[in-house]
Amino acid sequence: MSELTPLPRTLAIETSCDETAVAVLDPRGKVETNLLSSQIAEHAPYGGVVPELASREHLKALPFLVERALGHAGGAIELAAVTAGPGLVGALLVGVRFAAAFAWARGLPLVAVDHLHGHLVSPFLDLDGRDARPMPDRVLALVASGGHSSWYLLVDGVAEQLGRTRDDAAGESFDKVAQVLGLGYPGGPIVDRLARQGRAEPHMLPRPSIPNAPCDFSFSGLKSATIRAIRQQGLAGSGAVDPPAEVLDLLASFELAVVDQLMAPGPELIAAHRPRVLTASGGVAANTLLRRRMGELGQATGVEVLLPPVALTTDNAAMVARAGQLAYRRGEAADPRRLDAHPRQVWQPPGMRKLSTSRGVG
Ligand code: KG4
Ligand code: ZN
Repeated sequence: MSELTPLPRTLAIETSCDETAVAVLDPRGKVETNLLSSQIAEHAPYGGVVPELASREHLKALPFLVERALGHAGGAIELAAVTAGPGLVGALLVGVRFAAAFAWARGLPLVAVDHLHGHLVSPFLDLDGRDARPMPDRVLALVASGGHSSWYLLVDGVAEQLGRTRDDAAGESFDKVAQVLGLGYPGGPIVDRLARQGRAEPHMLPRPSIPNAPCDFSFSGLKSATIRAIRQQGLAGSGAVDPPAEVLDLLASFELAVVDQLMAPGPELIAAHRPRVLTASGGVAANTLLRRRMGELGQATGVEVLLPPVALTTDNAAMVARAGQLAYRRGEAADPRRLDAHPRQVWQPPGMRKLSTSRGVG
């Protein structure tokens, strides 16, 4: 089947963390409906995701969202896709069992999707009624979210990891710094907004490099240094309403240091791998500064840059549906009676075992 061959109209379910999401993609990868029920309000009082609460909320929201998605679908559903990992085990199980029952009851094929595959295909989708874009043969992709921060090279859809964080994920560091400042959860969008009003001091915070691994990065030292600076300046718990200028400046410096770190391997990776397209995805790809810097890197190197619409950077089911369609095209299928949740990344989707760090995408 070629890139342009129509694929089955797909309903996808995503429940790996704190968003219950259901989407339908048409045979050409056009997003027909993309529904999301956010649990942010439930988890916010705890400053992070409470796993048991997440499972219960998924259970409540899913039947309603699926019903609504079916109402918006442009035709009969021909394939069910679901995120099977990585993520919170209880949360994943709700989606996996629901999707399996849905597929079983309707006699539909079912595909299991790796959450990261979803993020990796998200730059090729849009929400303006256009078909999904075909994926070129060589794509250099940054994925930065609350759980992952890595660079990948996708060759004919098979992903090889080129660099990764050695400790915290970029989004996690945004969330932790925001928590100490009492800004609310999730921290990334709030830090993004406040950092725009501050003045970054480029040399204030550390940007550690990993010996002999120029494409890896580390955020834990940066996070600790930022939290130390917050405490030393008596800024802990400042809150998001009219924070003092010191908070705005500190956040601008912190954001700059995170983005500098994420982008640092970019030029070298482009020179070494000559990609046709450069992408960024995952929640942190919503970040204003990161989006600007990706654009600048593309311009400086003459490589086309594709970024997902901001609404498809954080967790959503449209990306899961697209990854599911492409997995189906590769001949992957899951048995609805046996499909299980895979909370850690040990899970390797069938047919994608080329390298221990390789992940197949479309
Ligand atoms: O992809 P995602 O929804 O969930 C995971 O798979 O982890 O990413 C969520 C992460 C959170 O850490 C959130 O703070 C961060 O993405 N995030 C941002 C922005 N919007 C969301 N980080 C920086 N700037 C943003 N505008
Ligand atoms: Zn995610």
